[in-house]
Amino acid sequence: MKILGSEITPYKTYLNRRQFIQSSFASVATFTLASNLYASHNKSQNQYSDQLSENDVLNTYEEITTYNNFYEFGIGKSDPSNFSNKFKPRPWSISVEGLVTKPGMIDLEDLISNFTIEDRVYRLRCVEAWSMVIPWQGFPLKDLIKKVEPLSDAKYIEFETVYRPEEMPGQKRKTISFYVPWPYTEGLRLDEGLHPLTILSTGLYGHDLLNQNGAPLRLVVPWKYGFKSIKSIVAIRFVKEQPKTTWPLINPGEYAFYSNVNPNVDHPRWTQATERRIGEFFRRPTSMFNGYAEEVSDLYKDMDLIKYY
Ligand code: MTE
Repeated sequence: MKILGSEITPYKTYLNRRQFIQSSFASVATFTLASNLYASHNKSQNQYSDQLSENDVLNTYEEITTYNNFYEFGIGKSDPSNFSNKFKPRPWSISVEGLVTKPGMIDLEDLISNFTIEDRVYRLRCVEAWSMVIPWQGFPLKDLIKKVEPLSDAKYIEFETVYRPEEMPGQKRKTISFYVPWPYTEGLRLDEGLHPLTILSTGLYGHDLLNQNGAPLRLVVPWKYGFKSIKSIVAIRFVKEQPKTTWPLINPGEYAFYSNVNPNVDHPRWTQATERRIGEFFRRPTSMFNGYAEEVSDLYKDMDLIKYY
């Protein structure tokens, strides 16, 4: 197994290794790789140091892959890692629909090979007031948007998660399905989708996304609450009107479309002024736009962020 060094490799090198690994020693290799990833956490901290802010420490691979929100697999934080083993993230294709010059089905492997996969360390701030720091691999959503050429009346993008109740036990469970209108959907304004911070992620810590993190392709929008970062995407639709998305549909009194991280607008049932970083004991203050204000505040310069929360 010596090819599975504990180095976190660039994603493309990693993908080549993965093909070799898969054809050789599939399950043992996956297990060994995972152990090495846990072990390499401290090393990664140095590798990504140029992307880490002063007060940020990477969360471990174990934390990121065992403490999740993914209602398709259950409501508990450990449900996604415990109950997602039946889910098959490959083969996979994404349907690009709506107001674009080039709609169509795109095979995931074609998609990945067309774009440059980059390392992006982002803070993820969940609406439940916990947070993590995650080394994602992915490509800017804008690269895909430009390729499919939106028409001039496309103002919003709607994203949809796969619906596979046979593989996703939460979609089958009556208690969850009673209030979650499957499939899970999310949306962005077109200019939010074009912002260079917005990525489609295919991996983290140099490893393909595990099912619990939204394999094989999920959105990451670091200045918005975590629920905007929709997982296991099968459709990307360009539309004229602001789409109706899952959380405002479930509870319009508590969730709205924009969901920008904002310490000045509390959730009706708890404060958003502070957060608990997973792995830490004390709470820390939450920053406007999750610390990305310099990059994104221009997108909202004429908006009342109390009204459009
Ligand atoms: N996407 C789908 N399809 N279903 C979900 O339940 N949960 C969201 C988001 N994406 C969710 C989803 C929420 S609430 C959060 S905080 C993030 O995923 C969590 O991502 P992570 O588990 O990879 O940390």
